[in-house]
Amino acid sequence: MKIKTKYREIKDGFSLKNNSLFNTISKMEPKSVINTIPITWNKAVDFSVWDDKGNKWIDMTSGIFVTNAGHSNPKIKKAIKDQLDSDMLFAYNYPTKIKHKFISKLLSISPSYYNSAILLNSGSEAMDIVYKLIKLYGQKYNKKYIITFKGNYHGRGLSNDLVSGSIDKAKWSGVGDNSVIFLDFPYNEEDVFDPTKLPPAEEIAGFIVETFQGWGEWFYPQKYIKDLYQFAKKSGALVSFDEMQAGFYRLGPIYGYMTYGKEIRPDIIGLGKGISSSLPISAVLSRKDIVNIDEKADLHGTHSGNALACAAGLANLEFLSSSQQIKLREKTMKVFEKEMSSLLSSSLVKKINVRGMMGAIIFDKTEDALRVVKECIYNGVLPVCTNKNSIKIAPPLTISTEALLEAFKVIKDALGIRE
Ligand SMILES: Cc1ncc(COP(=O)(O)O)c(C=O)c1O
Repeated sequence: MKIKTKYREIKDGFSLKNNSLFNTISKMEPKSVINTIPITWNKAVDFSVWDDKGNKWIDMTSGIFVTNAGHSNPKIKKAIKDQLDSDMLFAYNYPTKIKHKFISKLLSISPSYYNSAILLNSGSEAMDIVYKLIKLYGQKYNKKYIITFKGNYHGRGLSNDLVSGSIDKAKWSGVGDNSVIFLDFPYNEEDVFDPTKLPPAEEIAGFIVETFQGWGEWFYPQKYIKDLYQFAKKSGALVSFDEMQAGFYRLGPIYGYMTYGKEIRPDIIGLGKGISSSLPISAVLSRKDIVNIDEKADLHGTHSGNALACAAGLANLEFLSSSQQIKLREKTMKVFEKEMSSLLSSSLVKKINVRGMMGAIIFDKTEDALRVVKECIYNGVLPVCTNKNSIKIAPPLTISTEALLEAFKVIKDALGIRE
């Protein structure tokens, strides 16, 4: 046995090269969908992940920022089993008790300025609806433009590509949306929101903002986002936040945009990932006046509000919003933020971005980031490999202080930090 502790187990002979299941599946799926890390996930419980050979990692990925309540959370498992046993698995868009309970819980823990929820299955779908609502609003009030940011990510569908990355992202489709304006992302603290770079204020329908830019957890400068918000409010433009990674207590408060200050009250938010910590479900929260602009607008699908997914979501929200969990997280998030900040002492590290239980290590070189990812994996810690010059660290919010410190020791070793 190479490594054996309470939280990690890496057996002799473990290698990132020799996974036969990975090789077999790789032949049946497109190259673009295959994870670059050949680990077979066999079992995942709370903040631990096992492969099929019994190797065990401390999961610093939460899947991909999904399992905020921990993998295979017992309360979520029980809720799914109970729903299964009730013989109510699917009901299209007819009312079900479980959908009612889930929406009620979601709205009750969200700020009261949201009074309407649209249920969907994925983050991409949620952001597609955000795009659609802003478009419909623009048509009603004769406002043409949508403002978004270069480098942000909002999903994989056509409408997502039209507002993600850069104007080139949707080139494959042969269609474009000349009403979408990409602003440079304000990576520096001193960057200011400059309305002179925008079309006339009264012609702007809305802003699509990723709460932080994903690959490196880049936050907008505080003043920038406040100025953007005030500008939008004054000019009658909608403000939407993509909360896919930042939502459901990942950064501390229930939604990540709240970390920019109380005065920021987006008109629309897109939610997914941590909404269920398990089964596929997503949502858009907004107000009745916005979601009903066009009463005939197509805003749902076959599986929207699926009963099993709602049961998982309800148990997840009940768990995450419980006072006991909030109290536990207050302590571990402080440890996390301190440990993340201490990584700056490595000569390999250019910048640390951290808020709540989400952190990013920014390197000069992608090769350094890839080497550190591998080193961590060979030592029983699984970080998020971005395949860029960053590594993201985001364990389930249920992780213990002891396991956090053990994981950070491995990360520090990989970064060459000697304590
Ligand atoms: C910020 C953001 N928006 C949207 C999406 C798309 O979500 P999904 O993969 O559930 O469609 C993601 C997924 O990674 C994301 O990180």
